Amino acid sequence: MTQIGKDGLILAAEINPYPLLKELEPQIEALFEQHKEASRKRDWGYRKFLPHPLEMKAYWGDPRERPPLSQVAYQTVMMANLTEQNLPWYVRGLAELFKTAPPSLNEFLNWWTAEESQHSALFDSYLYFTNNGDHEERQTLVRDTLRRGWETDIEYPFQIICYVAIQEQTTYAFYVCAANVLKEEDPKLAQAFLQVAGDEILHMKFYREIVKLHIEAAPEYINPLAWEMLYFEMPGQVMPDYKERSRFLAKHGIFGPEHFYHYVVSTMWKEWDITKHLPFLKEELRERLLKFRNILEKRYNRSAFASTRR
Ligand SMILES: [Fe+2]
Ligand SMILES: [Fe+2]
Repeated sequence: MTQIGKDGLILAAEINPYPLLKELEPQIEALFEQHKEASRKRDWGYRKFLPHPLEMKAYWGDPRERPPLSQVAYQTVMMANLTEQNLPWYVRGLAELFKTAPPSLNEFLNWWTAEESQHSALFDSYLYFTNNGDHEERQTLVRDTLRRGWETDIEYPFQIICYVAIQEQTTYAFYVCAANVLKEEDPKLAQAFLQVAGDEILHMKFYREIVKLHIEAAPEYINPLAWEMLYFEMPGQVMPDYKERSRFLAKHGIFGPEHFYHYVVSTMWKEWDITKHLPFLKEELRERLLKFRNILEKRYNRSAFASTRR
């Protein structure tokens, strides 16, 4: 397994990414069964938040009388919407990498797709029915995002499982933070964010546990995991003006590096007991990972968000 990072760091871990995934098949199947049970219990549709047009007024208020969303709230929904809209490309990317993976992973992918498809439908319809933003402009942005597609340079199923575990946790955290900041402005929108967050956390758990099984069985798997943490970028980065959008949301306290540190790096670090596995990391990768964590931790400690957590 060889990979070159943006800064030239080479990951060359002497592990074969296939056999262990096959050996772990019974445990993966059991995790999928757990997921199905949890998912069936939730069993929600995006219409839960978007009643029939005749009932919309009672639920969301008359759109002609409702004040429009603030720029911060609108851009938060747009970030969510454009990220979730690109689902067909994520499905394609994962399906290609799972070709050689156990059947339960592919079956999970089908369930995951069905659950994820609710998310963009919810956000896009919410903006439309509450008459927020420019509908034509949004349609153009969605189309442009989809035309950009999404590709990953990841080559092996285990690596993409690490990536998706981190991505689902980040997405979960984004929705929780968004709900927290926007609950006063629009409590029903905050509820919708939390509903979606509930799906994301279930997805994360499935992938996180597969990662755990790997590193417990063979600790050298910590190398590709550390790699994915170090170079993680959200799949939504392909949307137009992603950097400006992210900076705007970070500046307004929706989601920034301090939230990423608290909810993702620090949380996943504990979940996977990365400290215990550090001796199995290639030296250069270990140094970079610790440096990366320290920088984020300092930033978190200086943030206003950190003072709300103490
Ligand atoms: Fe989603
Ligand atoms: Fe997700």
